[in-house]
Amino acid sequence: MELFNENSKLASVIHKDHSLLPVINRLGVKLGFGDKTIRNICEEREIDLNFFVEIINVFHYEAYFPEKRLLDFSVSMVIEYLVKTHRYYIDYLIPENDRLIELFLSANPEQSTENDLVRKFYTKFKEEFVIHIDFEESVMFPYVLELNQVIENPLSRPNFRQKYPDFSISGFEKEHSAMDDKMDDLKNIIIKYLPPNYDQNRGNAFLSNLFMFEKDLKNHSRIEDHILLPKVKQLEMILQSHE
Ligand SMILES: [Fe+2]
Ligand SMILES: [Fe+2]
Repeated sequence: MELFNENSKLASVIHKDHSLLPVINRLGVKLGFGDKTIRNICEEREIDLNFFVEIINVFHYEAYFPEKRLLDFSVSMVIEYLVKTHRYYIDYLIPENDRLIELFLSANPEQSTENDLVRKFYTKFKEEFVIHIDFEESVMFPYVLELNQVIENPLSRPNFRQKYPDFSISGFEKEHSAMDDKMDDLKNIIIKYLPPNYDQNRGNAFLSNLFMFEKDLKNHSRIEDHILLPKVKQLEMILQSHE
């Protein structure tokens, strides 16, 4: 398994795996990076070099997940990355899916039963997805950031304890499986059960976007489950030991 490293030229990384494009955007890099190496680019843009390298490797190789090393990154850095990923989903991927699904279904207006069914499954996925993201951004991430603050600034401990009397991330943990299941249902209804008179090219375009979304979302959930949560549990234990 060949991992990317700080001396890799970013352009050749992208030639090898273009699904990393939105990932590097989120990490703060835009197109037009010439022949610069990852190290040059990170130095220029003041991006944490190790975080950049680990995140692109984790995204590129599913089997690569150096938990120990990833646990070294600060909670705020991880959350900043996760929130940027949410924004990419909400501002770009979801509207793009909305557009592609309508393009696909509108080519077959007379098949209203099947169209309704596909729309129903798509709506179910979107609802689950939006609830999930809203919960993380309005409840879970603020809790984690406040917990992190409390560790750094013990004076704020009483306020925190008052706000979260039985502080524990376990109460906030949300399963990713409900969202994954709804994504699977949606893909399956199109792949397995649609009649053949649909426009195949438009169907493929919608499905390709869904598969890309699924890959990105799986990686995102993995970072939340295997990096963020263990880090939060560590912080909770530190706080508990000070009680
Ligand atoms: Fe998330
Ligand atoms: Fe999540």
